[in-house]
Amino acid sequence: MRIGLLGTGNVARALAHGWGAAGHDILLGSRHPEERTDLGLPVAGLSETAAHAEVLVNATPGGVSVELLRSIGAPALAGIPLIDVGVGLSDDFAELSHPNSSLGEQIQEAFPLTPVVKTLCTMDSTVMTAPGGLDGPSTVFLSGDDAEAKHTAGGLLTDLGWPASSQLDIGGITTARGQEHFALLFIGIAGGLRSHTFNINVVAAPTARSLPPL
Ligand SMILES: NC(=O)c1ccc[n+]([C@@H]2O[C@H](COP(=O)([O-])OP(=O)(O)OC[C@H]3O[C@@H](n4cnc5c(N)ncnc54)[C@H](OP(=O)(O)O)[C@@H]3O)[C@@H](O)[C@H]2O)c1
Repeated sequence: MRIGLLGTGNVARALAHGWGAAGHDILLGSRHPEERTDLGLPVAGLSETAAHAEVLVNATPGGVSVELLRSIGAPALAGIPLIDVGVGLSDDFAELSHPNSSLGEQIQEAFPLTPVVKTLCTMDSTVMTAPGGLDGPSTVFLSGDDAEAKHTAGGLLTDLGWPASSQLDIGGITTARGQEHFALLFIGIAGGLRSHTFNINVVAAPTARSLPPL
């Protein structure tokens, strides 16, 4: 699958390596592709990356993501599933940039023809691509309104090492705010553990998985 990753930072590079190793065609999208020639990964401009992609991934700072996507334009993004990993946090990691909403919802509202799936944002980039390196199974969440886009995202999560049993669909795109707001607890846990290399595991009662969805 042709995957375009918007951003060239920790998350975009980690996911590019993970999906590249799984056989996908990877392209990173940068504001300054001419300055990103030393990454050892293919890099293009933002619009060129969107034009190339069957699936797009937002791995840019959450406070600027909508503006960046607007620079590509709604027509160019229409119909392309967008996996949103972004979280908007202040520089001191103390405040969310979407406190009563979420970046995922804001993107979906601004680009109604682009199905958005929020996932992977509840963990460090090192865990996104190596869940098997932890001491046991853990959970990755999916939020989004479009069943087909979620199915595509779920397949790509499997390719990163997340078995279906670890993927928890928590509902429509409004549930993205729970994932994003978890960032504040993530910071607290990381401080307590003195490490970012951890994840949470949802442990249900034996009967819970057989209940109908909420
Ligand atoms: N790091 C993690 O472990 C982690 C975990 C969960 C969620 N997230 C979220 O994932 C997103 C990406 O995180 P990251 O750690 O990869 O961030 P990062 O290392 O700072 O990289 C962000 C990339 O976005 C691009 N960008 C576009 N507009 C920008 C702007 N105005 N200022 C700075 N960079 C801009 C930059 O690429 P160009 O300069 O090439 O355009 C940059 O490399 C963020 O929203 C973050 O909150 C990160």
